[in-house]
Amino acid sequence: MIVGNKFYHLTEIDSTNEYVKQMMRDVPEGTVVLADIQTRGKGRTGRDWHSPEGGLWMSVLLYHHQSYLVSLLAGVTICETLELYEITPGIKWPNDILLNGKKIAGILCEVIDEKVVLGIGLNLNIRHFPDDLLSKATSVFMETRKHLDLHTVYHQLRAFLDANYKLLQDKEIDALLTKWRKYSIMLDRDVTIELPDRVIVGKVLDVDHQGGLVLMRADHGIEHVIAGNCRLLS
Ligand code: BTN
Repeated sequence: MIVGNKFYHLTEIDSTNEYVKQMMRDVPEGTVVLADIQTRGKGRTGRDWHSPEGGLWMSVLLYHHQSYLVSLLAGVTICETLELYEITPGIKWPNDILLNGKKIAGILCEVIDEKVVLGIGLNLNIRHFPDDLLSKATSVFMETRKHLDLHTVYHQLRAFLDANYKLLQDKEIDALLTKWRKYSIMLDRDVTIELPDRVIVGKVLDVDHQGGLVLMRADHGIEHVIAGNCRLLS
């Protein structure tokens, strides 16, 4: 097992991603930092990530250059873990995990020196969200009324993450993409993707071997998009 071969459980930290970034030169691949509370949890595109007690906030150090595929396998991992509790969320590309249209988990991959700090935030036993998040966020507790044991869920997630990471290391990309398609809410949907210099409108055909989205534009041209802000239209 690579994931979690070294494990730190902290009561409180600013951000588990920041903590792993600070110590990444001194710890082995697979090191996990789990925190009960993050005081400055980070989301994508510079946003804050609400991280009170009750959530599963963790980061893992992985030595892989394909961060988009790492992000994709993290999404699959979260879905597989939640399915153990009869919850089936969906993956909105690139890395939102949604349940009933609300976000139940998020993924933040940061790349440093060809290494990836993979941050996973899973809203586990959170009972309330602040007003500004109420319409956008949900938790396992709010969906099921069940309080789950953090360590049990962590160990389940770690086992799925390790198995999926092994698929990536063994270059079994098709196996990973097959799993991703099972949970994706993207296929056949009309979307817009905002890139820094243009906006693409198209129908989602598939995901490619880099973790990019394959789209067909209205003029039937094909686009492969590796990153961007995605909005579902239909
Ligand atoms: C997003 O959807 O915007 C990504 C959210 C990622 C949150 C996790 S919680 C653990 C790790 N540490 C952070 O500061 N962020 C990630």
